[in-house]
Amino acid sequence: MEPSIYEYPAIFRRVHMEKPSEIGAEVAFMRKVWRRHLKRPVRRVVDVACGDSPHGLALARAGIEVAGIDRSPTMIAKGRKEAGAAPIRFYRRPIERFRIPERPFDAAFFMSETFPIMTDNRALLSHLDSVGRLLGRGGLYCVDIDRHDGVEVVDARKLWRQREVNAEGTWVDVREYHRPIAWSSGMHSIYELECTIHFPAGTVVTRDIVPVRYTVPSLLELAARASGYFTLVGCYPDLSLTKPIEKCHGRWFGVLRRI
Ligand SMILES: C[S@@+](CC[C@H](N)C(=O)[O-])C[C@H]1O[C@@H](n2cnc3c(N)ncnc32)[C@H](O)[C@@H]1O
Repeated sequence: MEPSIYEYPAIFRRVHMEKPSEIGAEVAFMRKVWRRHLKRPVRRVVDVACGDSPHGLALARAGIEVAGIDRSPTMIAKGRKEAGAAPIRFYRRPIERFRIPERPFDAAFFMSETFPIMTDNRALLSHLDSVGRLLGRGGLYCVDIDRHDGVEVVDARKLWRQREVNAEGTWVDVREYHRPIAWSSGMHSIYELECTIHFPAGTVVTRDIVPVRYTVPSLLELAARASGYFTLVGCYPDLSLTKPIEKCHGRWFGVLRRI
């Protein structure tokens, strides 16, 4: 089987076209959301699907205790190395269902538009149950979701985009495909990411196949209520507290409160 791009943490962020400055802007926005919706200071947070936890690291350096959850040992190893003495603990867990030996947290967050990979109702509800059990009453769960519309439904695997990127001196050919989906699946797309990485010692091809659930604010609200743990208290587009959600350009933040 071909490896995942998450086996190459130094490369994945460039492949996803993210700029390092985005992390700072996202953390600053999250802190604004906390101030608006939580009437107590945030001292302890959970970073869900944390990878190497760039958001967690920024918060830990500001004195907040962080627990990160991810299934990738490679991403976690990179996070531990970068964190040094900063107060982050990493746990290797699946996001769909997990427990960690920690006392309650004030907030949790799920960044990088990865939440919609939970395409199955049971996975979505057991995920919310897992996060809900970790938060104290009133605690917030911020979820970052890309705007879902306009994807062409295909009846055969189809090349969507291709580009070449340079990640820390290594050239990578990136090809993104859409795969067919069943009309009844409730999915937005099945996204396939193929990266051909030209290392000096040889070429490696990674492949990630990512089913994406069609996730809009009303679905998040329904899932939150169905979980019995959360209620949706805010939806904020494009890191703005004032822009109407209908004008969302790229992605939106759903804010759930632990009841
Ligand atoms: C796009 S990265 C985001 C990492 C980090 N939140 C950031 O903003 O840089 C997505 C992460 O989700 C993790 N992941 C994907 N599916 C997962 C699952 N089912 N359980 C646990 N982690 C998962 C991957 O290992 C990867 O580190």
